[in-house]
Amino acid sequence: INKELFRGLTSLQHLYLSGNKLDGIVENTFCESPKLVLLELDGNPLENIEVGSFNCLNQLGYLNLNHTSIGRTKGALFKELHQLVVVSLSHSGLEKIADDSFQNKSRLTRIDLSDNDIEWLNASMFYGTPQIGTLRLQNNQITKLPENLFADVAGPLNLSLKGNPLVCDCQLDWISGWLLENGGNLDKCLCDQPSALHGLHLDSIPYDRFHCKPYIIIDIPQIYNATPGDKRFELVCPVGGKPPPTITWTIPSGEKISKNTVHEYENGLYRVRGNDTLVIREITSAVEGWFTCEATNILGHISVDLEVKVVHVPSNWMVAFLAVMIVLFIGCALCLVVTFLKPCRRRRRRRELIRTPARRVDPRYGPLSPIAEGNETDEL
Ligand SMILES: *[C@@H]1O[C@H](CO)[C@@H](O)[C@H](O)[C@H]1NC(C)=O
Ligand SMILES: *[C@@H]1O[C@H](CO)[C@@H](O)[C@H](O)[C@H]1NC(C)=O
Ligand SMILES: *[C@@H]1O[C@H](CO)[C@@H](O)[C@H](O)[C@H]1NC(C)=O
Ligand SMILES: *[C@@H]1O[C@H](CO)[C@@H](O)[C@H](O)[C@H]1NC(C)=O
Ligand SMILES: *[C@@H]1O[C@H](CO)[C@@H](O)[C@H](O)[C@H]1NC(C)=O
Repeated sequence: INKELFRGLTSLQHLYLSGNKLDGIVENTFCESPKLVLLELDGNPLENIEVGSFNCLNQLGYLNLNHTSIGRTKGALFKELHQLVVVSLSHSGLEKIADDSFQNKSRLTRIDLSDNDIEWLNASMFYGTPQIGTLRLQNNQITKLPENLFADVAGPLNLSLKGNPLVCDCQLDWISGWLLENGGNLDKCLCDQPSALHGLHLDSIPYDRFHCKPYIIIDIPQIYNATPGDKRFELVCPVGGKPPPTITWTIPSGEKISKNTVHEYENGLYRVRGNDTLVIREITSAVEGWFTCEATNILGHISVDLEVKVVHVPSNWMVAFLAVMIVLFIGCALCLVVTFLKPCRRRRRRRELIRTPARRVDPRYGPLSPIAEGNETDEL
């Protein structure tokens, strides 16, 4: 479709193009008809949707892209569709959906993403979309959903997750609780993993039956620099799990310490806090080396190695002392230069005074004409 087709159709509100052979829509196609409220494009082999294909449609409320071949939606595809209410993307070959596709669409109430190959939704996907009441995600490849996915959704929410290989561990344990608190329904979706919960309805599993073996919550640096003389230094064990794992730290000497035990060395000591952070007091070179935190629960265990290096850095007063020395040195150097240059300058001025009168009275230039320095030297 050529955008010339819409020339003059400035009041067009409903456009039905379903079941044709459109394989693409170029940028700004609908800009002649910015009052479009409903656009049906389902059943077209749309492969070439461009970032600006839906530009200018800031009144559009209903967009049907069911049974198309859109595949990956590019980030800004729906960017200008601020008034969107219902969007259907069922059977459209989606594998990944851009993180900000639906953000800030305050009127959006229904999103259909069913029958695609979506594996993952970003936690920021529904930021600024409080009105979503229906989210259809059935028949995709979803295994888990991030816990704050519906942070901005007011509820109630009807959520369909049927036909996904759901892994019912601590990354899905929040859904039933959220629906209970905010209202809504979950369809009869079944757990695929773990084997103990296979075939059970997600909604029917009590919160404390969702387990996770220990896992790393965030990637943290492996090497840490401590300064000798510091009063304290802390190492965090970045591990989670359900039930919460027991943490044991191994210090460079090979000794193990866990909560409520203290190990002393030279003038300092190691201690494990209530939240499993290892505290090292009075840093000396004796603390240098590898530390291991080991997390264990009923499902398994994991360990993380962290290295502490004790590095001498110049202390504050040393830096200040150096700064003062440098300033003094520069000052002295300047003094020397100035005292050495002064007599020279005086001598030159005297020489100039001797020869200027001859030039100033040159009648061609008038009494105040400037004197070119170059000429002066030539005469000399
Ligand atoms: C889109 O397709 C799904 C499933 O094929 C269907 O349930 C839904 O009603 C369709 N949406 C529209 C707006 O036609
Ligand atoms: C939605 O709004 C938030 C906060 O104003 C902003 O950070 C984000 O970039 C917006 N997203 C889009 C897609 O406009
Ligand atoms: C989610 O989206 C945000 C913003 O686009 C991005 O910074 C973040 O890395 C994404 N998170 C994941 C787990 O993909
Ligand atoms: C959610 O589902 C319930 C029960 O099936 C239904 O009564 C309600 O209208 C639905 N809400 C929306 C927003 O579709
Ligand atoms: C551990 O608890 C202490 C206070 O008891 C707090 O200062 C520190 O930030 C906590 N660390 C972590 C990783 O939660």
